[in-house]
Amino acid sequence: MAQAIIQENSILHGDYRKIVFAVPEMANTAKAGQFVHVRIDERLDHMLRRPFSIHDTDPAKGTLTVVYKIVGAGTHILAEKTPGECCDLLGPLGTTFTPCADDVVPVAVAGGYGSAATFLLTRECKQKVVLLIGARTQSELVLDDAYRACGCDVRVATDDGSCGVKGRVTALIAPLLAENPGKKFFFYGCGPLPMLLALAKTLRELGLDGELSMDEIMCCGVGACFGCVVKVNDPASPQKWHYERSCVDGPVFPLEKIYLEH
Ligand SMILES: Cc1cc2nc3c(=O)[nH]c(=O)nc-3n(C[C@H](O)[C@H](O)[C@H](O)COP(=O)(O)OP(=O)(O)OC[C@H]3O[C@@H](n4cnc5c(N)ncnc54)[C@H](O)[C@@H]3O)c2cc1C
Ligand code: FES
Repeated sequence: MAQAIIQENSILHGDYRKIVFAVPEMANTAKAGQFVHVRIDERLDHMLRRPFSIHDTDPAKGTLTVVYKIVGAGTHILAEKTPGECCDLLGPLGTTFTPCADDVVPVAVAGGYGSAATFLLTRECKQKVVLLIGARTQSELVLDDAYRACGCDVRVATDDGSCGVKGRVTALIAPLLAENPGKKFFFYGCGPLPMLLALAKTLRELGLDGELSMDEIMCCGVGACFGCVVKVNDPASPQKWHYERSCVDGPVFPLEKIYLEH
């Protein structure tokens, strides 16, 4: 737990905000896929912390960045905070994405704020990350420019065809494979549950491997309350499932554990 001083809290676009915390102890250790559990407000009705993926870190400056969308009371209050104010942060929490071997191409597949959760892979993987990003419409794409600025190959799908391919983000996988015969890929997914389930199904059908971040609504964030359980497959007997806690057993789970019948 740490008191983090807000250095910046700025508008990215639309309802998306970027908040930079000065919190050196976390900036030095955070890995891709992990999250911080933020106490947004001391008032009673906002006592529960809110979880946010760690988008980026700068160990030299001691900063940790989160990208968030204003969706409810907690994120509204967060958006009103100004530089110099403090937030109580728990973290870094949860399991991490595993950086792939040097001869394997890392492919992030993201929807919504999911592109924030996979961004640290651009620093942790030797090969350039390919980003497959999906949204309902162009104005809802998040952080695609940040990936482009890192030299990543960014491919876009929108439901309404306003940017990139018209359709779902999973439609971008087959063309990527067809363009790169013989290359090995490893997939990292983060986004809304229906997108993740479609991604898991597609990867399995194509015989590909990966890890997905299963973000469930959280309470304690540290494994004590079982408020965040998700159904996972037992890899040894795929017909069976059991519950695991998204906050400590996840949020990142190997593809083989993703249970498709949610
Ligand atoms: C591991 C993890 C990482 C996350 N990373 C990010 C991130 O990087 N950026 C970001 O914008 N959001 C992220 N979220 C979601 C974020 O925690 C919620 O949007 C936030 O808690 C909403 O708080 P609120 O008080 O504003 O909204 P509330 O008033 O609590 O809820 C408003 C709406 O958001 C929904 N909601 C709340 N929590 C979640 C959730 N976990 N998943 C889906 N819907 C939710 C509620 O059901 C409700 O419909 C993450 C969630 C998890 C579990
Ligand atoms: S949020 Fe309490 S166990 Fe996961």
